[in-house]
Amino acid sequence: MGVYLYFRVMKVDKRQKREEELFREVSKGKLPEHVAIIMDGNGRWAQKRGLPRLAGHRAGISALKKIITCAQELGIKVITLYAFSTENWKRPKREVEFLMRLPEEYLEKELGFLIENNIVIKTIGDLDEIPGLTQKAIRKAVASTKQNTGMILNFAFNYGGRAEIIGAVKKISREVLEGRLQWDEITEEIFSKHLYTGSIPDPDLLIRPSGELRISNFLLWQLAYTELWFTRVMWPDFNKKYFLKAIKDYQKRERRFGGIL
Ligand code: IPE
Ligand code: IPE
Ligand code: MG
Repeated sequence: MGVYLYFRVMKVDKRQKREEELFREVSKGKLPEHVAIIMDGNGRWAQKRGLPRLAGHRAGISALKKIITCAQELGIKVITLYAFSTENWKRPKREVEFLMRLPEEYLEKELGFLIENNIVIKTIGDLDEIPGLTQKAIRKAVASTKQNTGMILNFAFNYGGRAEIIGAVKKISREVLEGRLQWDEITEEIFSKHLYTGSIPDPDLLIRPSGELRISNFLLWQLAYTELWFTRVMWPDFNKKYFLKAIKDYQKRERRFGGIL
């Protein structure tokens, strides 16, 4: 038992050292300003362990906490997290209800920490269509962190990229119809300002765990020149090490934006 414990402690110690080294290395390089994450794989993570899918969603919250802390320590300015898509309503009623309750549960426990850590909570997506209590919890979190000046934690909830684009088209059309904007004044910049993301810069890096190699209607306009990073790891197992690895890989990428270097 003693020997087993000794080796276990040594292993944890070694892992921590490696993580610290990786952190130091990464923090010396150019950091992405905005990282977007598709928090995927909760259901499969649970099923593999013989647990209900809902247990996977709850386990995803601990991954979320680790990533928020690490991003903040690094000095990343914006993190956007895909938590519920406009297509996720297709899931069984019980699962949808659980996912709708999760923000309330999460914020009840974590809002104090987020306020203390100077984090600004924002959301993208259609909040008007979600249950009243969930709306209330989210709006309260947004209001009580509005004065903060630190990292922006942007939750995509009931979010769909196509719905967002249609929403922007409608807003712009109305302005044109009412004479507040001329049709030939519409530029990419004006269009971007009418999206949910408004003044937030486009993501530099997109991370998708769970092995799926697709975007799933996330930030369609904003991802135009984002660097993509995929891993087979399921979201509940995603941790600081993977996050740092993603950023390290990002630092090796050559971003050309259509030009040449
Ligand atoms: C992501 O995990 C969470 C949401 C979509 C809300 P999934 O529930 O999609 O997990 P998998 O992809 O089925 O494993
Ligand atoms: C994307 O994951 C949405 C979120 C993680 C919130 P999905 O699990 O819904 O995506 P698909 O269905 O595999 O494309
Ligand atoms: Mg999924």
